[in-house]
Amino acid sequence: MADKFDKIRNLFPVTKKFVYLNHAAVSPTPRPVAEALRQQVSEQLAYGGRAEDLWEKRAEQARRQAAKLLGAKPSEIAFVTNTTHGLNLVARGIQWKRGDNVVLPQVEFPANVYPWLSLQSKGVRIKFVPEKDGRIRLEDIERSIDRRTRLVAISFVEFLSGYRNDLKALATICHSKGVYLVVDGIQGIGALKLDVKKAGIDALSAGGHKWLLAPQGTGIFYCRPELLRQLEHPMPGWMSVVGWQNYYKFEYKLFDSCRRYESAQKNLLGLCGLLEALRLFNRLGIASIERRILALTDYLCEQLEAHGYRVFSPRGDREKSGIVSFYPKRRKAEAVWASLLKRGFVTSARKGRIRISPHFYNTFEEIDRLIHALSRGRS
Ligand SMILES: Cc1ncc(COP(=O)(O)O)c(C=O)c1O
Repeated sequence: MADKFDKIRNLFPVTKKFVYLNHAAVSPTPRPVAEALRQQVSEQLAYGGRAEDLWEKRAEQARRQAAKLLGAKPSEIAFVTNTTHGLNLVARGIQWKRGDNVVLPQVEFPANVYPWLSLQSKGVRIKFVPEKDGRIRLEDIERSIDRRTRLVAISFVEFLSGYRNDLKALATICHSKGVYLVVDGIQGIGALKLDVKKAGIDALSAGGHKWLLAPQGTGIFYCRPELLRQLEHPMPGWMSVVGWQNYYKFEYKLFDSCRRYESAQKNLLGLCGLLEALRLFNRLGIASIERRILALTDYLCEQLEAHGYRVFSPRGDREKSGIVSFYPKRRKAEAVWASLLKRGFVTSARKGRIRISPHFYNTFEEIDRLIHALSRGRS
């Protein structure tokens, strides 16, 4: 009997052309997202700004759906244009003192590096924690924290290794030392279950275009009220304030909620796409999506190893994710990537390895076909 994931596969026309295994890069658009975008463009054609209230309502629905997915309150969510945007809200919002420092893994994607590196001009030091065997060890992070550390910035899931950081354990360590935990969530949100409250995260930012299957230029930012109250607003605007509808009286009173970060016009078109994507996730249930993705990647690793490939990604129960990186046996990763693409398999080549990142609509049969293509390509 077909399960719910087989049934929704037809929402992904990309499957007709490709075996798409690259959701850690840029994801294909599901049909309901594309239809929502089309619908909103039609409304813009027909009604111009007269339909704006409707689009704003959709944005608020998206906020509620995002809050539900993360276990947060809608007031704790702001829409951002990408992961970097949200991380900068924290990086530019903290009142730094010379000699403060930020702890982050050495293997972070640059999006979670430059917002912090840019603080060097304010006398803030960056302390990089090395990776060991594809893992970031809690004790290494703990050892790096000193009395001048203000925050730890880390990915939920590391983009190269796919290592899933234990955010709850990290938050406990951070909070016991009076340090904030700030998370780049883009490689985990949409693939793995995360309750930001239960984990104790202070802030999280995730762009929409990877595992969330939403348009590029959309993203969600969560901030714990206790941190929000401490942050300066780095880029306030006319829509950041409580009385923004009054154009003639100026009173600088920021919204108490994260809405303060939506400083001016929003990407309402992108957000209507994000809404449909979030609805899909909440309808399918993130726990069962996680089970599906982990079952697919477990199977992939088993097959890779059975065929003599060395898997780089840590695959213990609490450390695995939707990202699997492995070493080709004979040819260079770029050559393997190109030959897979020629055969219709979309993957990534990263640091001498092939990175595979399936989503819930991929199938076990597609994994078999990938393994077959690898063997045929003498990879
Ligand atoms: C861990 C990680 N963070 C962030 C990004 C992207 O950042 P942004 O959403 O700011 O473009 C990527 C990949 O593009 C990534 O792998």
